[in-house]
Amino acid sequence: MAEVFLKLEGIKKSFGGVRALKGVDLEIRKGEVHCLAGENGCGKSTLIKVISGAHDPDEGNIFIEGKKVENLKPIDSIRMGIQVIYQDFAVFPNLTVAENIAMNRALMTGAKKMDWKEARKLAIEAMEMIGAKMDPDILVERLSVANKQMVAICRAIINDAKFLILDEPTTALTAKEVEKLFKIIRKLKEKGIAIMIVNHKLDEIYEICDKLTVLRNGEYVSNGDITEYDRARFIRDLTGRDIEEIKYSPEEDENEILRVEHLTRVGAFEDVSFTLKKGDVLGITGLLGSGRGELGDALFGLAPAQSGKIILNGKEIQIHSIQDAMNNKIAYVPEDRLTQGLFLERSILDNTMAASIKNYFKKGKLDYKAMEIATDDWIKTIGVATPSAKPAIRTLSGGNQQKVAIAKWLNTSPDLLVLNGPTVGVDIGSKSDIHAILHRLAKGGVGIIVISDDLSELVQNCNKMIVMRNGKVAEVIDNTVDETTLADMLSGKQGG
Ligand SMILES: Nc1ncnc2c1ncn2[C@@H]1O[C@H](COP(=O)(O)OP(=O)(O)OP(=O)(O)O)[C@@H](O)[C@H]1O
Ligand SMILES: [Mg+2]
Repeated sequence: MAEVFLKLEGIKKSFGGVRALKGVDLEIRKGEVHCLAGENGCGKSTLIKVISGAHDPDEGNIFIEGKKVENLKPIDSIRMGIQVIYQDFAVFPNLTVAENIAMNRALMTGAKKMDWKEARKLAIEAMEMIGAKMDPDILVERLSVANKQMVAICRAIINDAKFLILDEPTTALTAKEVEKLFKIIRKLKEKGIAIMIVNHKLDEIYEICDKLTVLRNGEYVSNGDITEYDRARFIRDLTGRDIEEIKYSPEEDENEILRVEHLTRVGAFEDVSFTLKKGDVLGITGLLGSGRGELGDALFGLAPAQSGKIILNGKEIQIHSIQDAMNNKIAYVPEDRLTQGLFLERSILDNTMAASIKNYFKKGKLDYKAMEIATDDWIKTIGVATPSAKPAIRTLSGGNQQKVAIAKWLNTSPDLLVLNGPTVGVDIGSKSDIHAILHRLAKGGVGIIVISDDLSELVQNCNKMIVMRNGKVAEVIDNTVDETTLADMLSGKQGG
């Protein structure tokens, strides 16, 4: 067996009263791809920050290549070959690709002056090594998310990384880009680099990882070869409960909630027609650029349609603005929730109430008690990991922030709820909780539209799906379709 690169023993870390890590053990060997899994808020990012020296643990031991290290600082961990790629990649938008890649190395070696010619050469070498094709002289702000990530990986490997940590690297990537990333990871693995990935998508974990460590509530739960975990065990270890994965199939109901006719917005989507009946959870899918997101934006008045009809509960409505949409009881959970959907410095309660505050005025006064009860209720129903409704959103883990964004719109009691990528970054247990809420609402007569490219989510959660290609409706299907066929439909390999 390969040598152990990193060993953690009994790591504990608290933030005020929150015990984020309660004694975690972990062992990472050279040349292995190790998945760190666990529900939102279980302490994954905190553990990574302990390994990178960004957080001091309160207790516990860290061994790197067999040597016990004390008082680990970020610069030490980099010197020992540990490189972390955070979700935002921490690249500098106004520097070029080459400058970004070479940057840290200059800082590390303490060079007083930057040798740009040398930097450019290094950058090109790094890109060649992982097979990334980018113009070294282009500004990073002009790159796609996937390419920004490539820059971060290049930067990591030219710093002689021995251990590369990627915190949720695939959340913002398309399926093709994920494939490319995995190819690079396999290459690095062959070179003997140890890799740890945080990921919530089971299929991806099975595809790329050798080992798995599961945390729950800041505690170590289990560890082993990926082959020792079937879906059921994985879900049980993660959540502490059994989750049935059954497809949503409501009873037929002829009551029409929403009818869309010939909806068009030039350059985004064209002649889109569909109906949504009571009980339906309608999926809208397609590749990036298919118009799926733009259609959602139009229903909420963010970028309104220019022609066509929208009929909600039998009445034709006009949506030229967000206000129009909200007046017609349409709610929208946007894709980019962290920037569009939440006030990070404000409390969970403030955020949950943000779209429905007008319902809480009693004789001209805000009814705080009612607001607290409603917020606590949502915290319980969708499982936000927090001691109360008081903390600022900023202090919640990524997945828990997402859940509050959804609660905010659920609290408006909408007639039509459109969710764009509702469970991106959300763990399996909460995903199933969120799906259950959507199903309950649909059966109660709320129109539910889920825009997504997460195929397993679509097949399980939606009873009807629209596949969009080049701005047009290419297929309308039910959930008897399997994921492979659906993937082919997205790219146009199958169907018309
Ligand atoms: N700087 C901080 N101040 C206060 N609490 C924090 C801080 N950082 C993390 N926490 C808390 O520690 C716990 C673990 O958070 P962490 O970010 O490690 O979770 P995670 O496993 O990465 O979750 P996710 O899958 O949602 O990203 C959470 O309850 C979180 O609210
Ligand atoms: Mg995290």
